[in-house]
Amino acid sequence: MHKIKIIVFLMVLIVSSQLAAQEHLIVNVYNRATTSLNGQWNYIVDPYENGFYNYRLEAFEDQENPGNGAFFLNAKPKSKSDLIEYDFDISDSIQVPSDWNTQKENLYYYEGTVWYKKSFDYKKSENQHRVFVYFEAVNYEADVYFNGKKLGKHIGGFTPFNFEVTNLLKDKDNFIVVKVDNKRKKEGVPTLNTDWWNYGGITRDVKLVEVSNNFIENYTIQLNPENKNQIKGYVKLNGTEIAKKEIQIDIPELKLSKTIISNAEGVAVFEMNSKKIQYWDTKNPHLYQVNIKSVNDKITDQIGFRTIKTKGKEILLNDESIFLRGISIHEESPITGGRGSTIEDAQQLLNWAKELGCNYVRLAHYPHNEHMLRLADKMGILVWEENPVYWTISWENEATYNNAENQLSEVINRDKNRASVIIWSMANETPTSEPRLIFLKKLAAHTRELDPTRLISAALEQSDYNGDPTIRTINDEFANVVDVLSFNQYVGWYDGLPEKCGQISWKILQNKPVLISEFGAGAKIGFHGDKLTRWSEEFQEDVYIQTLKMLEGIEQLQGFSPWILVDFRSPRRMLPKIQDGYNRKGLISEDGKKKKAFYVLKNFYDTKSASN
Ligand code: GCU
Repeated sequence: MHKIKIIVFLMVLIVSSQLAAQEHLIVNVYNRATTSLNGQWNYIVDPYENGFYNYRLEAFEDQENPGNGAFFLNAKPKSKSDLIEYDFDISDSIQVPSDWNTQKENLYYYEGTVWYKKSFDYKKSENQHRVFVYFEAVNYEADVYFNGKKLGKHIGGFTPFNFEVTNLLKDKDNFIVVKVDNKRKKEGVPTLNTDWWNYGGITRDVKLVEVSNNFIENYTIQLNPENKNQIKGYVKLNGTEIAKKEIQIDIPELKLSKTIISNAEGVAVFEMNSKKIQYWDTKNPHLYQVNIKSVNDKITDQIGFRTIKTKGKEILLNDESIFLRGISIHEESPITGGRGSTIEDAQQLLNWAKELGCNYVRLAHYPHNEHMLRLADKMGILVWEENPVYWTISWENEATYNNAENQLSEVINRDKNRASVIIWSMANETPTSEPRLIFLKKLAAHTRELDPTRLISAALEQSDYNGDPTIRTINDEFANVVDVLSFNQYVGWYDGLPEKCGQISWKILQNKPVLISEFGAGAKIGFHGDKLTRWSEEFQEDVYIQTLKMLEGIEQLQGFSPWILVDFRSPRRMLPKIQDGYNRKGLISEDGKKKKAFYVLKNFYDTKSASN
């Protein structure tokens, strides 16, 4: 009976993950042998989308004979009389992965369409093999064409997607064209206004993934939250011959090996038992090599096994209560200053977090690149991942909901085997309303279906208790849905001066762990004054001192992730000589200098971890 229950539960899991995410997102491309398409790509800036629509605003791609205006054809004049009004190969080039804003001065504020083109030769290692092009992220909308044919469209700037090119691929002179459009839209996710820079471009790695014709497309391998001596999951094959196939899962270090048989859909579920598992935790982030082998394919992953739960007001990692010493991070490169994408970027940001005394980071407000999660796994840093449902989204727009759900499914599919990821956040600072509640409840239900092993939260907003502004509470029905109650609060910065912290008490009615997802203050590095001088390091320092004292008053407090590790670009921050296009709430300036408040938080965390 128990076995059937496991099989049914896992089947539901698999079906819902397929239905939701773009079809056939390949999991763990990170560890596959791939061919990089990174490097210089030619580009054409096309604010009028002249390469996409004819003068009647009809899309070329919908036409039988699109003609020479269609940029996706990468057309060349066939005679000296031919009229073609673009040429990628003599156009300027730009680096991929990266954003266009910090690479080209004239594109710093540009929002719109930019066409990217890359030509390459590619010889498959075996004729019957299949080839996919895999994008780690493109902000925001990507229309992808290969050798003049439309592969598909992806919406969402922070999650991976892939398209098959097997039947279009040639040994020589392939060309891939991507129409990238980062225009902000009311019905978008995120919507029109955010407090971060709307970096446009092919912002993360692009790879060619060559696999056998029946390959391992997807798998979940996690510790059973109900039984710490059991590793369970499923493997899903992709191909034409995937039924009744042998699949082998090995965890050599645990001397575990299991052979399972796929069903008609190419799916096989399994469980393996061991009393010798070294559980992954922040002090000992032990990762096991896991090998998955099918008839024609094999892949390796490094997976940590741990449980994460809540019990009353506690967060339990491997059944032990843990205080989350965190910091919020935006995905900006401390090296190039633009959108972060490299392992060096990730390493620098997480090294700073470690230096601060953190065992936890909030990756805001969208999924960051996979290097962050892989490094967090190795460094023993717990992670909050967030879907970019930010501020006032179009709650009643079905396409907006599907877009939000799809982005969530993609990040869950990418990171569900990462031990470091403990919390899926549905949203940030969204105004309470019935349509919003329905929207977020659906997202949460979808997340629980896809991944019942992790905690759900969202950065909510606090309000007065019974109209008394000196008592703060969480008055939000979505607080009943989340596992961890999180909210942003800015007493001392947007709400009064630092000393106001001393006048505030908290009345949190939910018997749940509380995480303060944001608090903080702005400071210009090197600007000094008394602690009432806004923008001075002393003001920010005092906000931290007062806030840390105030938050100790929250009985359910289990951690926080102050806003923010590093100053970051924002089009909403224009105060000359202070902000100059940066949100200055970082504890570290954009050029890597630490502010006084950095040490206030570090001392607090060092004391906290010493007492744990
Ligand atoms: C908000 C928001 C952040 C923003 C921060 C700020 O709470 O979540 O995205 O940057 O406040 O105002 O600095």
